[in-house]
Amino acid sequence: MSTARIAICSQKGGVGKTTLALNLGLALAQLGHRTVVVELDPQESLAASLLQPGGSVVGLHQVLRGTATVGEALLKTKIPGLELLGVGEVDPMTSWDFHAIVSQPGVLPRTLNEIGDDALILMDCPSGLAGATLGALGAATHAMIPIQAEPLSMRSVERVLNVMARIRENQNPALALAGIVLMMFDRDVDASLEVVRTAWRDLDPEVLFEAIVPRNPVYLEASLHGVPVGFMAPGMHPEGRRFQMLATELLGRLAREEEGHAGPVQTLL
Ligand SMILES: Nc1ncnc2c1ncn2[C@@H]1O[C@H](COP(=O)(O)OP(=O)(O)OP(=O)(O)O)[C@@H](O)[C@H]1O
Ligand SMILES: [Mg+2]
Repeated sequence: MSTARIAICSQKGGVGKTTLALNLGLALAQLGHRTVVVELDPQESLAASLLQPGGSVVGLHQVLRGTATVGEALLKTKIPGLELLGVGEVDPMTSWDFHAIVSQPGVLPRTLNEIGDDALILMDCPSGLAGATLGALGAATHAMIPIQAEPLSMRSVERVLNVMARIRENQNPALALAGIVLMMFDRDVDASLEVVRTAWRDLDPEVLFEAIVPRNPVYLEASLHGVPVGFMAPGMHPEGRRFQMLATELLGRLAREEEGHAGPVQTLL
């Protein structure tokens, strides 16, 4: 069984981090891995989609402040093997406080240790490369970067990689890149096609995941219903299958690393 702590992060907002964390989390759980999605975004969109309204007052924020334990904050979902550590209640006017605590070196790793060493942990970061994202990268074994199939996306990847290089130097030498996922690909839009071509040309195949997520209104419908996209059709919606392919690719990469093969981070930086 693979174990890893993966920070899902991007500089830009709205590129699909939360969508990726939720749907990849489901796929990994369906493939038999204990998977914990940790919400690091005080916007609370993940907990909002998985839980009943008002159901996540106790979460990571309370654990970090010492008013709750991980055991109290870690929630089982309806999906066997998939658990959620929601962000908990964060006052929007003092969310800097959450970001400050979570980004203190050592704080998040200690909390994640309490989840146990048998889990794949996916950290849903807020947009941007400061605050909680720095905490996540400091605690992670890997980063996974979703990019929108849009012009300028490649430039934002460079910025994430630069921040990762600095975190590796100062705090977390083991931080590796799990890979880059192209999200919201629209085959009818020339600019979107161009980004996919550029990504295929410029990125090492070990870096770019083969599974590409297209733009599809079913994602928005799924988030309105508060369910992973696979649940949007009897059996499984085809978009759910896509995340199973992505999960299988990710597990293959992790397994190769465990066998001692160098991850893509060495080829990029
Ligand atoms: N492939 C897709 N096709 C269409 N809509 C999508 C797709 N993926 C995500 N969306 C929608 O786009 C919006 C942004 O996605 P999401 O919340 O996952 O991005 P995010 O990177 O987590 O945003 P933030 O930076 O605000 O945390 C959501 O409304 C989501 O339902
Ligand atoms: Mg999000």
